[in-house]
Amino acid sequence: MAELQLSTKHLLGIKYLNQDDLQLIFETADSFKEVINRPIKKVPSLRDITIANLFFENSTRTRISFELAEKRLSADVVNFSSSASSVKKGETLLDTVNNILSMKVDMVVMRHPAPGAASFLSNHIDANIINAGDGTHEHPTQALLDAFSIRDHFGELKGLKVAIIGDIVHSRVALSNIFCLGKLGAEVMVCGPPTLIPKHIESLGVKVSYSVREAMEWCDVANVLRIQLERQDIKFFPSLREYTQYFGIDLPLLNSLKSPVVIMHPGPINRGVELSSEVADSDQSIILEQVENGVAVRMAVLYLLAAPRSRSMMGT
Ligand code: CP
Repeated sequence: MAELQLSTKHLLGIKYLNQDDLQLIFETADSFKEVINRPIKKVPSLRDITIANLFFENSTRTRISFELAEKRLSADVVNFSSSASSVKKGETLLDTVNNILSMKVDMVVMRHPAPGAASFLSNHIDANIINAGDGTHEHPTQALLDAFSIRDHFGELKGLKVAIIGDIVHSRVALSNIFCLGKLGAEVMVCGPPTLIPKHIESLGVKVSYSVREAMEWCDVANVLRIQLERQDIKFFPSLREYTQYFGIDLPLLNSLKSPVVIMHPGPINRGVELSSEVADSDQSIILEQVENGVAVRMAVLYLLAAPRSRSMMGT
């Protein structure tokens, strides 16, 4: 394993990680994947570390996955949800976080609807910040677990063709995946209705297709994204029914392809919209493996970011 140190104090986005960071996270996650499949799934690595999970936006997978990862590493964990907090009384993000940090918190995992919220926080506080999704910007641990799952399936990412299909313009998962897959040598295509593809996205080194059949015939892996209706204040396509007709992936489409395509989805799935249930639950789907790998990948990120802190606590 390379030197046990990431090049960055925070995980704000994949944009700020280099290839050595990615390899180190994957190799560390390999070890933790072995740990969480043991009868005793816990190690004492973060015994002296306190982590606050701050969720200002809804989450099922990311929140539970981080909490499990922290507990498997023996960290002390506090959970904060904005819907049941004094944010509702008008408290600012910085006041909220500073109050939590004054209770001696070492690391903060934060999901927030505002792009750049994690980066803003990192400029004002001393704790390590992990971005668990900031609006439409980045969702770095999702991209890491996606890439780790592809690596698990194919052995390596270099030269693989990955299509990201769906609502690209509102998706933090899409941007983090584009950065991550590019750094790992995979080819990326984005596909969706023209209104859901950002202008000039080719400048990030990706191909663009407006035909789901073309994308599916081109790729080895399809990472399918949901339509984020909660982020759309105008109509980007006539109806969900038409979206499904033109961009939904069903079994007849999957079975008509010359080569098998691995199906991924970050969740939550809108069954019958972007993916039919038969596809989501098919042998070609690795959606639940993504969720399983999320815990090991998040353990790796937490462990590596906490390493300098743990070493200084031990006086080394
Ligand atoms: N993939 C993902 O971020 O899911 P949640 O919104 O449920 O955390």
